[in-house]
Amino acid sequence: MQVLYSPSTIAALDDVNKPIAPLKPAKLNGTTAAENYDNVQVLGDVDKAEFARLMLSFKAWVAPKEGCGYCHNAPDYASDEKYPKRVARIMIAMTRRINSEWTQHVKGTGVTCYTCHRGQPVPPRVWYSVATPPQDGFMARRPEGRPPTPAAHSTALPADPLSDYLLGDKDIRVVGKTALQSGNTHSIAQAKSTYSMMMVMAESLGVNCTYCHNTQSFTSWELSPPTRVTAWYGIRMARDLNNAYMGQVAEMLPAERLGPAGDGPKVYCATCHIGTSKPLRGASMIQAYPELVAPSVHPTTVAATPEPESGANQPARGAAAQQHPESSPWPTASATEVVAAAGPGQAHQVVRSAKP
Ligand code: HEC
Ligand code: HEC
Ligand code: HEC
Ligand code: HEC
Repeated sequence: MQVLYSPSTIAALDDVNKPIAPLKPAKLNGTTAAENYDNVQVLGDVDKAEFARLMLSFKAWVAPKEGCGYCHNAPDYASDEKYPKRVARIMIAMTRRINSEWTQHVKGTGVTCYTCHRGQPVPPRVWYSVATPPQDGFMARRPEGRPPTPAAHSTALPADPLSDYLLGDKDIRVVGKTALQSGNTHSIAQAKSTYSMMMVMAESLGVNCTYCHNTQSFTSWELSPPTRVTAWYGIRMARDLNNAYMGQVAEMLPAERLGPAGDGPKVYCATCHIGTSKPLRGASMIQAYPELVAPSVHPTTVAATPEPESGANQPARGAAAQQHPESSPWPTASATEVVAAAGPGQAHQVVRSAKP
């Protein structure tokens, strides 16, 4: 159960993983942003002074070089004509959702815009769907015949496991429960995608497989360290963020932001983790920004909101790792709930796995 770390790899990520200091607390003004400004749709109930502090923080977290003008057309701060401002509204709702509804994963540490953005408008780690490689020659039809890709770590494993698992909800389960072929319907292709995905996860966190598994049995939850349970929630969280928010964002982005297959940038483990097992090496900033913990109130996402607050059918964190999935109410979740949430002007589909 040793986890191997490479000191030079860790050192190379020192700069990007340095936390940024929160701004000094604001002296409360006593009136809300909604009372003072014309077009505040999400942060309306935030105190005026805190709102100003948050704007300064947005600048530092997302656009330090570009400044307020990255989102605003000064002096008309109420105008929504710049797309980054419209995207930022969705981002506020997404950040609030992470901090208030995905605490099984982010615990009390939580995230701010900086966790993903690290002082840049485009976070340093995002993913796009892989455009299908040209089907040329008979080997090219087989995944093994495809050229090694960076996404699959220079192996010929499937290059696009993220579309299957962090956008779709394909089963990440390949090991048979019985000897011989009796009942395990998982294909070899699924096994390959699973291994591809696991390599992406391990690399995102800068760890090896034993950080989450006892290699005596990759399938056994009983033998796995509790980090695997946290990771299980992380997979569901990333899937939720991509379906509920990043799809809407893609519709607002200019063409140069889209990937080779025409899809928008999306979130995966490395977007927050950047090579460490806890983002920013465990530093937390949300205590200094309680307005980023409030439940999502964005009009276009309310319909896609709460996962059930499921105190009763949620296993206690420690206990979860002890339970065999067969006897536990969680990991085999396969039911998919499709929620149609009306976005501005068009329907937006949100696909969510049923909560354990
Ligand atoms: C990353 C994007 C972003 C940056 C950078 C940013 N803002 Fe904002 N700003 C927003 C968003 C989004 C809103 C609307 C919030 C809402 O609807 O709840 C907003 C609203 C405002 C408003 C209210 C305008 C009105 O009348 O409705 C003011 C004033 C403002 N920002 C000032 C600033 C200043 C000053 C800076 C630089 C220090 C800044 N902002 C930097 C995204 C940004
Ligand atoms: C979970 C990770 C994550 C968090 C947290 C997050 N963002 Fe983002 N953000 C993204 C991704 C991914 C994109 C898409 C990148 C792109 O636009 O190419 C994005 C795009 C943006 C853009 C558009 C940039 C552009 O020029 O295309 C803005 C503005 C933005 N975010 C602001 C914010 C603000 C403000 C917050 C905090 C309230 C925030 N983000 C929190 C991941 C995140
Ligand atoms: C950060 C934690 C983490 C790391 C690192 C990790 N795994 Fe996993 N692994 C998981 C989780 C969580 C699942 C279950 C996913 C689910 O059910 O959605 C899983 C599932 C699997 C499965 C399927 C088990 C079954 O029941 O069929 C295999 C095989 C596997 N991992 C192998 C690996 C290998 C090989 C590595 C190293 C390259 C690795 N894992 C690294 C967390 C991790
Ligand atoms: C929105 C940002 C975000 C994303 C995306 C994300 N994580 Fe995390 N993750 C966190 C935060 C924050 C923590 C720290 C929680 C804490 O302090 O215990 C964490 C903690 C963890 C831990 C526990 C580490 C430990 O030592 O206790 C594991 C394992 C993990 N994440 C795996 C994953 C995997 C695997 C994925 C992708 C499927 C993922 N995370 C995606 C933010 C994120």
